[in-house]
Amino acid sequence: MEVDHKDLKEDLLPLRAVKHVELYCGNAKQSAYYYRLALGFSFVAYQGPETGVRDRVSYVLQQDKITLVLTTPIRSDSPITDFLVKHGDGVRDIALETSDAEKAYNMTTERGAKSVAEPYIIEDENGKMKLATVEAYGDTVHTFVENMDYAGPFMPKFQATPKDTLARPVGLTYIDHIVGNMDWNKMDEAVDFYQNVFGFSKFVSFDDKDISTEYSALRSTVVSNQNKWIKFPINEPAEGMRKSQIEEYVTFNNGPGVQHVAMSTDNIIETISKMRAQGVDFLNTPSSYYDDLLDRVGDIDEQLKTLAELGILVDRDDKGYMLQLFTKPVEDRPTLFFEIIQRKGAESFGKGNFKALFESIEREQERRGNL
Ligand code: FE2
Repeated sequence: MEVDHKDLKEDLLPLRAVKHVELYCGNAKQSAYYYRLALGFSFVAYQGPETGVRDRVSYVLQQDKITLVLTTPIRSDSPITDFLVKHGDGVRDIALETSDAEKAYNMTTERGAKSVAEPYIIEDENGKMKLATVEAYGDTVHTFVENMDYAGPFMPKFQATPKDTLARPVGLTYIDHIVGNMDWNKMDEAVDFYQNVFGFSKFVSFDDKDISTEYSALRSTVVSNQNKWIKFPINEPAEGMRKSQIEEYVTFNNGPGVQHVAMSTDNIIETISKMRAQGVDFLNTPSSYYDDLLDRVGDIDEQLKTLAELGILVDRDDKGYMLQLFTKPVEDRPTLFFEIIQRKGAESFGKGNFKALFESIEREQERRGNL
């Protein structure tokens, strides 16, 4: 799907799309290697002591319209070091593209967002950008990024790198949604924050029904900006058939934070095949999941056998269907992971898969005589 962010309609709060996601990590040099060779990103820009930045190193990685920044502190007295001690590797900043960083900052802080950085301009020989940052949930923040006249590789003060010959692209195209995990009974507070402070709306979709709560042990509400290019499902733990994975996340992350970043592809079979070949670990899908798949989702373009070989999940809503698969956590704490998604009409987020996966695991238990 070809969309130029600059053409996207803006809200009262002038936000267009997710500009980039910055992850703090313990060793960005080595993580960058995984993101390039396993996840298919190209290394496009760099910042560090060689470019005059004394306390950190940042690697900018791109695949089509997705930009990730991996940042590592190089001094123990850096606040980034405190973040890593507390949370481990994870998302720090969901940066949002705007035509007016000052307005975005003023409107959100007037409505109660806590300030992290007042509007300021950064510039180099490639031009200027205006930035401002506010708190989101936990230690996650949103930086408003306004491109004033910048035409360089990423942002002022970053140096372009030579063409990446190591990267092995897998066809990821844009960020579909970014999910935040909250503590018990904190979902509504976070949803209210995005509605009242950011002017987002609840994104009503087919999977809003609470039928899956007992299987998923989580509750989820999706908020989005008006042009729907920024979609944030917000989760909280719930009592269910099994211990909530959201509770586990909050325990190991030491509080709320980003659970997963969903990245879109136009060909999930090709993308997952490449990622598997490049060593990415995905959640296991029991083979019995495919026993009743076509009964649940009806006609699909893909071969059932191919989907089963790759473990790809399918869900349908009233608008169409979607294919998805989740990586295992990409660090040693059971926290951040990625979702690969291909939408074929469906606008929902795959809640039907919680029940389907649960039932398929039970079928396998039954086959073993353990139910
Ligand atoms: Fe998701």
